[in-house]
Amino acid sequence: MNNVAQSPCDSNVALFDAIAKDIADSGYSIQAKALPQPLLDTLSDQVQAMPASDFKQAGIGRNSDHQLNQVVRSDEICWINNDNDAGADWLEWVESLQAYLNRHLFLGLLSTESHFAHYAPGDFYKKHSDAFKGQANRVLSMVVYLNRDWLADNGGELLIYREEDSQAAIKVTPNFGTIVVFLSEDFPHEVLPAQRDRFSIATWFRRHNSNAIQ
Ligand code: OGA
Ligand code: MN
Repeated sequence: MNNVAQSPCDSNVALFDAIAKDIADSGYSIQAKALPQPLLDTLSDQVQAMPASDFKQAGIGRNSDHQLNQVVRSDEICWINNDNDAGADWLEWVESLQAYLNRHLFLGLLSTESHFAHYAPGDFYKKHSDAFKGQANRVLSMVVYLNRDWLADNGGELLIYREEDSQAAIKVTPNFGTIVVFLSEDFPHEVLPAQRDRFSIATWFRRHNSNAIQ
């Protein structure tokens, strides 16, 4: 493992602090050009070098009906582990954010899960929630975008809705290095189709270790 994620911590602290303040104030945070550049480059290179066979059709909830799944989302995913430097660096960075948020927001986050996602041109993820009240153990959702030179008319925006509000409240362009964090129960969201390949990481911070909801 190299130590990209440990390199100068000052920028991380400023970023983590901004995320914590936003979450406390409004439940979500959008940070442009946020991720440390070496980590961003490593992740972007990694995801674009991965063979298509590493990616699998994504599932929704505990539903294993793939035909139904494809109506809701058509992207492909690959879970991230410590097998390679890029994955290990990402998980380490996520852990340091988790520790920071636990110290400052007392969220009691116990574990995380992360996957790369690839949306081929035309792929989408219809409006959904990452967690449901009562049964939720996903507390925070985070997405980071790994596409260099994303153009405004490339599509693929993330639309974040306020609960109970069918009007799209926030539109996020998936620019290189932008990070979005939000309370999983409170913000239904969707991914609009893009004109080009769209690469990202989705991470969830969890309160309990239980069966993964994918
Ligand atoms: C998800 C998701 C948003 C995005 O994977 O659950 O909502 O912008 N991703 O990729
Ligand atoms: Mn989601």
